[in-house]
Amino acid sequence: MKDATPSMVLLSEYRAPDWVVEDLDLRFDLDPASTRVESLIRVRRAEGAEAGAALRLHGRDLELLRLEVDGKAPESGAVTTDAEGLLLTGLPDSAAITVETCIRPEANTALEGLYVSGGTLCTQCEPEGFRRITYFPDRPDVLTRYRVRLEADASRYPVLLANGNRVEAGELPAGRHYAVWEDPFPKPSYLFALVAGDLSCVSDRFTTRSGREVALEVYVEHHNRDRCAHALASLKRAMRYDEDAFGREYDLDVYMIVAVEDFNMGAMENKGLNLFNAKYVLASPETATDNDYVHIEGVIAHEYFHNWSGNRVTCRDWFQLSLKEGLTVFRDQEFTTDCTLFGVKRIDDAQGLRAFQFPEDAGPLAHPVRPDRYAEINNFYTMTVYEKGAELIRMLRTLIGREAFRRGLDLYFERFDGQAVTTEDFVDVMAEASGRDLARFRRWYTQAGTPRVTARTHFDSRVGALQIDLEQETPPTPGQQEKHPLHIPVRLSLLGRDGRVLPARLEGAAEATEFVVELTEEAQSFRLSGLREAPAAVSWLRGFSAPVRLDAGQGTAELAHLVVHDDDAFARWDALQALLRRAVIARIGSEPDPVLEAALTTAIGALLEDSGIEPVVLATLLDLPSHRELMESFERADPVAVDAARHAVEQAVFQPLAERLASGAPDPGRWDDGAFTAEAMGQRRLLNRILALRVAIGAAGAVEDAVRQYREARSQTLAMGALAAVNDSADPARGELLADFERRHRADPLVLDKWFALESGSQVGDGLARLERLLDHPGFRWSNPNRVRAVLGPFMAQNHRHFHREDGAGYQRLADYLEHLDSLNPQTSARLAQPLTRWQRLDPARSAQMRQVLERLAGKDLSPDLADVIQRALAR
Ligand code: PHE
Ligand code: ZN
Repeated sequence: MKDATPSMVLLSEYRAPDWVVEDLDLRFDLDPASTRVESLIRVRRAEGAEAGAALRLHGRDLELLRLEVDGKAPESGAVTTDAEGLLLTGLPDSAAITVETCIRPEANTALEGLYVSGGTLCTQCEPEGFRRITYFPDRPDVLTRYRVRLEADASRYPVLLANGNRVEAGELPAGRHYAVWEDPFPKPSYLFALVAGDLSCVSDRFTTRSGREVALEVYVEHHNRDRCAHALASLKRAMRYDEDAFGREYDLDVYMIVAVEDFNMGAMENKGLNLFNAKYVLASPETATDNDYVHIEGVIAHEYFHNWSGNRVTCRDWFQLSLKEGLTVFRDQEFTTDCTLFGVKRIDDAQGLRAFQFPEDAGPLAHPVRPDRYAEINNFYTMTVYEKGAELIRMLRTLIGREAFRRGLDLYFERFDGQAVTTEDFVDVMAEASGRDLARFRRWYTQAGTPRVTARTHFDSRVGALQIDLEQETPPTPGQQEKHPLHIPVRLSLLGRDGRVLPARLEGAAEATEFVVELTEEAQSFRLSGLREAPAAVSWLRGFSAPVRLDAGQGTAELAHLVVHDDDAFARWDALQALLRRAVIARIGSEPDPVLEAALTTAIGALLEDSGIEPVVLATLLDLPSHRELMESFERADPVAVDAARHAVEQAVFQPLAERLASGAPDPGRWDDGAFTAEAMGQRRLLNRILALRVAIGAAGAVEDAVRQYREARSQTLAMGALAAVNDSADPARGELLADFERRHRADPLVLDKWFALESGSQVGDGLARLERLLDHPGFRWSNPNRVRAVLGPFMAQNHRHFHREDGAGYQRLADYLEHLDSLNPQTSARLAQPLTRWQRLDPARSAQMRQVLERLAGKDLSPDLADVIQRALAR
C-alpha cells in the first residue's frame, strides 16, 4: 500500500461477459502439499460480443502447467499474462480450453480457494476464491454446468464430496480412489465446493412438499458425531418453513453440510454442499449456550434459504451482493421470529443494527447497500450489505403489504430462475406486483448513511385531530456529500391516558389503531383525526419500521408511559432505552439526573412486578444501551468515561431494586435442562441477566450465587451466564472459576474459545499482559480464525480500559497483531481491524494515538484487504 492507490472496480464499468461457458469438466488429483487441477472448459462467443473479443481467465497464485486451445498450444502472442490472470485472444467462435494448474493447499493460510483444515481438504470460493484453484472467468454472471472428478488417497481421504449428485466412484491402484460428481444446475464459480477428508456422516431424510426424497448429510470429525442433532433438526425446520412461508422447495436429492474448524466466516451456501464453521454446526447442552443454539439454527436456515435466494437466482456482479444477502437475512429473520424467538427477535435485530450498522454507516467505511465501487470485494461483506439490506426488504413489505410482497417474491423467483440479476430487478418486480411507485424507495440502495427523522405532534382539541410533522435528513458520508429524501415508512400508534391504543383515522381513511405514514419528502405533515381525547403518548417506529434515528422530542413522562403500557415490544423496549441513554448522557456531560434515574427505578420496578411480561422480553428490557451504541450519541467521546457512566447508571437505577431482582429471578435448578424451547430459553436469559445485574451493582450474595450457579450448572448456558456475570468483578472467585473452566474444556476448541473471549474481554487486572499470555497459551493458533477472533475481538469491543489505554499501548499492540495476522489471513485481519478505524469519534488525545498507529500500519507491506480498510479509515 506504500505506493499504489489500489485500483477500483466500478459498477459503471460493468460489461456483460463476451464468452459463454457451455460446461466445465474439472479433475482434481488431491494432495495437501501439491494438488493438480485439470480443467476443460468449452466456450462460445456470446451473442452480440465483438468478433475480436478476448477471453479473460482469472487466476491467482497458480502454477500453470499446461494450456491448450482445441488440443494445441496457443500461438505465441495469443496469451497475455497480467495481474488478473490470463487473456486469450484470437479464439474461434467456440473452443475447448484445457488448463492444468498446480496449487498448494497446505501453504494456503488465507483460507480462500483450496485449503486444509484439521486434515480435511476443503474449498471456499466466494467471492473470488475459484481463481486460486484454476484459470476461469471467475465472475458471478458466468454460469455453467460442472462435472467434477476427485481422486485422492483412500485411507487419508475416504470421503470425497462435490456439488450435486455422485454419479460414479471406485478404487484405483496404489491405495487411491475416486468419485465423480455432477451438478445439474448451472452455477457461478463462487458456488463451487469440494471436500476430501476422513469424516463421519450423520444423516437424516426429508420429504419435500411435492414428494421428493432428500438425503440430509452432516459431515463432521468422528468425535463430534454426537453434536449434530440440533443442526439436522434445524435444517429440517428450515426446509419446511421455506415451503410453508415462501413456497420454496429443495431441488436436489442430497443436501450436505460439512463442518470445518478453520473458516473465515460463518458458513457458505455452495450448491448442495454447504461448508460451515464448526461453531455453527456442533452443539450439545453441555457445550453450547442457548445463544449458540439460536445462531446455529439461524445460520443453517440462512445457508439453506440461499438455495433460492442466491443460488437459483444469483447476483450479476458483486455490487449486487445484497440482492442475495439482504434477502436471505430477511428470510432467516422471519424464520427465527416465527419458529424460535418470536417477539424478541425484532428487538435483538434492532439492537444489533444500532450497535453495529449505524456506526458503520456513520464512519469512514460507510457505503450504500448497493455500493458502486470497491477496491477489495472481501471488505463488503458488511452489516450494511447484510443487515441494512434486510431492512430494505422489510420496508418494501411494509410499504406494499404482505400479499403484494409475496406475489412479488414469487414473480422474482419465477422470472429470474437460473439468472444473474441486480437489486434493480428485484425492486422492479416488487413495483410490478404492487403497482406502486418505488422510484424514491430505490434511493435506499444507492445512498449511504442513516437518516435522521425528526417528529413533532400537535393536538387540536377543538377538532380532535393530531397533526404530525416529520422531517428527514441524512448526514454526508465519504464520497457522498449530497443526500436526498428517502421513502420511509413510519409505523405508529397513539396511547391514551389509560394506556390503551386510541382509534383514529389517517388522512380520512378507515378507523384503525396502527398507522403507517410514508415520509417521502424532506418535510411532510400528516393528520390523524377522530380522536376523542388527547393522546398521552405516541408509540413511534413500531416494530422498528425503518432503519433510522428518530427524534420525537418526547419527555420523561411520555416515555415512561410507553415503558409501562406500549403493546409493541420493540417500541416499549425503545422507550426504556431512550430513558437509559439520557441518564448515561447526563452523567457524562455534567451531572447525574437523580429525577430521571429515580423515574427509571420506578418504571423498571413496575416491570418487575408485571407478571404479564414474558421472561425473555423482561430480560431484554433490563439491558442497558450498549457501549457501542452510546458512543454514537457523541461527536467525540472518551470510551472509558462512557463505560464508567454506563455502569454508574446501572448502579443508581438498579441498586434500589436489588431485593426485587433477587426474588424475581427464575430458579436455575428448575430451568437447567438445556431444552431448546422459547419458554426455557427465555427463563435462562432472564436469570442470567438478573445475575449479571446483581453482581454489577454489588448486591449481597450475588457473587456467591454466581459461584453456585457455575458449580451446579449442567448446561453451558448457565455456566457461561455465571462466568460472564463475574468476568469484570474484582472478586477472587472470578480467577478461580475461569481457571476451572479452562482446565475442564482445554480439549474442546469451541468451548475453549469462550474462555479465551472471557479472558480477553475482562477489564480487571492488567489486560495487556493477560492478552500476551493468551497468545502464549498452548491452545492459541494464528491459523484458526475462531481462536484469533476470540482473543482479539473482545479485547477491542469490551476491554475499554485496556484497549483504550491513554498511552496508546493498546492500539499499538493490536496493530502489531493485525500486521502479523495479515501476513497469513488478509480477510480476517481486515475484518478485525474495524475498531481501529473509529479514531475520529474518540476524544482528541486517544484520537491522535489511534491515528498514529493507523499511519504506521499504512506504511507497512499489507494485503490489499487490510490496505483498503486502513486507507479508507485515514482518508478525510
Ligand atoms: N455467503 C456467505 C453467507 O452469507 C458468507 C461468506 C462470504 C462466506 C464469503 C465465506 C466467504 O452465507
Ligand atoms: Zn448469506
